[in-house]
Amino acid sequence: MLLHLSDLHFGTQRQECLDAIQRFCQQYQPEVIVISGDLTQRARFHEFYQCKQFLQLLGIPYFVVPGNHDIPLYHLLNRAFRPFHYYELFFGDLEQQLETEHYYLVGVNTVRPYFHTKAVISKQQIGQVEVQLQQAPANKLLTLVSHQPFYTAEHEHHHRSDCPALAEQAIKQWGHHGLKVLLHGHFHLSAVYDFNQHYQLGLTHGVYEVHAGTGCSNRLYKQLTNSFNVIYPDATVEHYDFSDQEQEFILRTSIG
Ligand SMILES: [Fe+2]
Repeated sequence: MLLHLSDLHFGTQRQECLDAIQRFCQQYQPEVIVISGDLTQRARFHEFYQCKQFLQLLGIPYFVVPGNHDIPLYHLLNRAFRPFHYYELFFGDLEQQLETEHYYLVGVNTVRPYFHTKAVISKQQIGQVEVQLQQAPANKLLTLVSHQPFYTAEHEHHHRSDCPALAEQAIKQWGHHGLKVLLHGHFHLSAVYDFNQHYQLGLTHGVYEVHAGTGCSNRLYKQLTNSFNVIYPDATVEHYDFSDQEQEFILRTSIG
C-alpha cells in the first residue's frame, strides 16, 4: 500500500496525530509514503527540520513535493530570490521520481513565488512528465504528485481558480500515456474524482484525482478532522479520519 499524507504544516502539528500515523505505519508497513506538499506552516528552518525528523523516524521511503506554504510568505527578499532554499536543503530537488515495487511516482512542482495559492504548470513541465510516463514500466501504478489539485468541485473551501490554467491539457496528454492517479492536498479535504467525467479525455480507463486532507495540522475546517488516504496498486483509495475519541485514524470510505 501507499500512504498518502498531505498538508502536515509542521509548526501547527498535533502530536496525537503524528503518534497515530507512526502506529499506523508500524502496523501496516506501507511500501512508500507520499506527502503532497505544505510540509510546513511558514517555511521556517525548524519546521522543515521537525518534518524531516518525523519522516525519518517512520523508517519508510518517502516522496515529497513542495506546497505554497513551503516558501516564505513574509520575507519578501527570500520569497523572490530563494523561495525554495530550505525545502531544497532538507528534501532536495523540487521534482523527483521514485519507482517502488508497485508504484511509479512522478513529482511536479506547481508552486510559484509570484502567486499565493494558485497552481501553475508550464508546457515544458507537461512535456517532461509525458516523457517520464512513456519510460515508465507498464506493470506499476503510474502516479503523479503535486500540491494543488488539477480539478475540484466548486465548494465553500474549494477554489477552482487554484487549479493550474493548463490542467485539462496536461491531464489529456498524461492520461494518454498511462497516468492513473494524481495525488494532491491543499484544500484540507479528502475527495476522489475521475477526470473522464469532467474533462474531455476520450480515454477508456479511469484517471483519478485524489485529494488528501491535513494529516496532523490543527488548521482544520469546521467539522472536519485530520485525515489521510491509502492507495492500493489497483488504484483503490481508502479515506481514513482521525478519531479524537479513539486517538487513531479510522477507515471511513473505500473507493474503487
Ligand atoms: Fe496549500
